[in-house]
Amino acid sequence: MKRIKAIYPGSFDPPTNGHLDLIERGSKIFDELVVAILRNPEKDPLFSVADRRKMLEAMIMSAGFDNVSVDTFDGLTVDYALRLDAQAILRGIRAISDYEYELQMALMNRKLQPALETVFMMPAEKYSYLSSRLVREVAQLGGSIDCLVPELVAQKVREKMDVAHKFANRGEFAGQASFEGKSKSRKKKA
Ligand code: PNS
Repeated sequence: MKRIKAIYPGSFDPPTNGHLDLIERGSKIFDELVVAILRNPEKDPLFSVADRRKMLEAMIMSAGFDNVSVDTFDGLTVDYALRLDAQAILRGIRAISDYEYELQMALMNRKLQPALETVFMMPAEKYSYLSSRLVREVAQLGGSIDCLVPELVAQKVREKMDVAHKFANRGEFAGQASFEGKSKSRKKKA
């Protein structure tokens, strides 16, 4: 019987409950799912690739998905998928606003490698507004991210923010006006 392997590529900076929801859905329809973190030297991420990998592995282990693994890749997603002998690329679509970008990417990937299928899945409605970018922004501005990411991720994000605030308070966190502003308003409240 043919076994279907899929990759779920992304930045996962940080991984969210929406990603976990999609991983769960993917693990049910594919025989094997590889969550693939892009190693992108151009981006200035909050978390290193190694940290993101550890968080995703812990999330997957605690959820008990035994057909899901985590890996990292660089270069073209389609080349990586072929190296793994995967037949499908899993992507999440939350809202119409995602559609245009995702369609463009899926069609480009099909052009590059017609044998690979992109499979879109929708996360639960309660995660339809959730993105890693917003999680970073809310956390940087002092909001709670507790229901947006697993507890182990929230803890890691809080640790990052504490380090950033310490640097900001010492005036060493160059170029981060939002941190500076937050640390000033915290001082006022204290
Ligand atoms: O989580 P993200 O940032 O939306 O993921 C985007 C990702 C990693 C899937 C996309 O940027 C990607 O596939 N990058 C690898 C390079 C590549 O294949 N580019 C051509 C895509 S059409």
